[in-house]
Amino acid sequence: MSTAKLILEGNEYEFPLVRGSEGEVGIDTVALRKHTNAISLDPGYGSTGSCLSGITFIDGEKGILRYRGYDIEKLATESSFVEVCYLLIYGELPTQEELLSFSDRLTRHTLIHEDMKKFFEGFPATAHPMAMLSAMVSSLSAYYPGAGIDEDLDLNIVRLLAKVKTVAAFSYKKSIGQPFIYPRNKYSYCANFLHMMFAVPAEDYVPPKVLIDALNLLLVLHADHEQNCSTSTVRMVGSSQTNLYASISAGISALWGPLHGGANQKVIEQLKMIREDGSNFRKYVDLAKDKSSPFRLMGFGHRVYKNFDPRARILKKTADEVLDQLGVDDPLLDIAKQLEEVALVDDYFVSRKLYPNVDFYSGIIYRAMGIPTNMFTVMFALGRMPGWIAHWKEMREEPRGRINRPRQIYTGPTQREIKPLEER
Ligand code: CMC
Repeated sequence: MSTAKLILEGNEYEFPLVRGSEGEVGIDTVALRKHTNAISLDPGYGSTGSCLSGITFIDGEKGILRYRGYDIEKLATESSFVEVCYLLIYGELPTQEELLSFSDRLTRHTLIHEDMKKFFEGFPATAHPMAMLSAMVSSLSAYYPGAGIDEDLDLNIVRLLAKVKTVAAFSYKKSIGQPFIYPRNKYSYCANFLHMMFAVPAEDYVPPKVLIDALNLLLVLHADHEQNCSTSTVRMVGSSQTNLYASISAGISALWGPLHGGANQKVIEQLKMIREDGSNFRKYVDLAKDKSSPFRLMGFGHRVYKNFDPRARILKKTADEVLDQLGVDDPLLDIAKQLEEVALVDDYFVSRKLYPNVDFYSGIIYRAMGIPTNMFTVMFALGRMPGWIAHWKEMREEPRGRINRPRQIYTGPTQREIKPLEER
């Protein structure tokens, strides 16, 4: 068996290697502290693997993303979001029969308890939809207690996937002061969400195919991304055996930040700012390079991808197609393309391997679809739901799973005496 050797203060230790199915190598340091009394220190976890996982594979150098072995490019064109949910959570693409039954259950569980509608009344009209989403998903555990690994897990998975889109659409309706629109059982998952978002009681609304297809694609592309910040949060919270809803609610909060899923909202805000400033994109490229400024080009860079993010490649093409089909001419798309062109040949971005990520073009498509900017991260959360669930389930099904509890290197004061108040 291959091992890694560590020489620490003159003593030699050996640690086993772990190899993944795609040849990735990890050094198993579980026994490091026991044998050496030292810990590994890796703030930001850039060199730390937190688990073994069979769900998603990314090769950041080659720009590869696969769910359960299937290329994202193939899933994007050949699968529905509901199929991808099933694939991620249960490990295989569904058969015709399994798909029918899963879709049917997702439809039947779409309503939320009527009492939950009163929660929305308590939020100010200006509440960010992510605040409402996180609170409402956590609140589902009050209605369906005991959503642990042993208690009706499949039912709670279906409930969560089905109800989260209702909660998301209701939070939008709340923010614009319109009545909630109830789900319709005749619609598919994506069509039903669009119906709840855009229908009004006074008019008939049939979700257009171009919007249904675009939404389906966006959700598939966001469905999982292995151990990112929000998924690691879901696993972290779930490792204390917290219920499914509360664990996922924590993931939603982690996603909200502008360095993670919140970047899609920030990209559009940044593109608007550049436009209002005379479309001088070079100025902002220079500002992003200036180390004395905190400004970053949102939608650029990724911890894992050191090549094009394959999701961004698909979305760039889709943005053109969707805007074309909808007859939308968005000047922000031109600015985004110019920004990308400049950044891709600029030595600062080239040497740091900073490419557009999934958030760079997704917002342009959401905008064209009529989804408001403050809902963009909610859309990301809807897409990421099956990934979070799959990881929570995988972790909880581990026979020897332990609570996640990292260590630290303490840098505070050493032991000291408390001085009497008058002497401090
Ligand atoms: N604009 C300018 N410089 C950047 C950017 C950027 N967007 N991203 C990274 N850098 C620089 C950074 O300053 C650092 O430079 P130096 O080596 O001189 O100190 C170098 O590139 C490496 O960056 P890092 O911050 O160490 O990289 P990280 O892996 O810790 O962070 C990131 C990854 C995505 C948080 C970061 O690239 C970033 O802040 N990007 C903008 C926010 C964004 O688009 N987030 C969405 C990520 S994709 C969706 C998702 O999965 O969440």
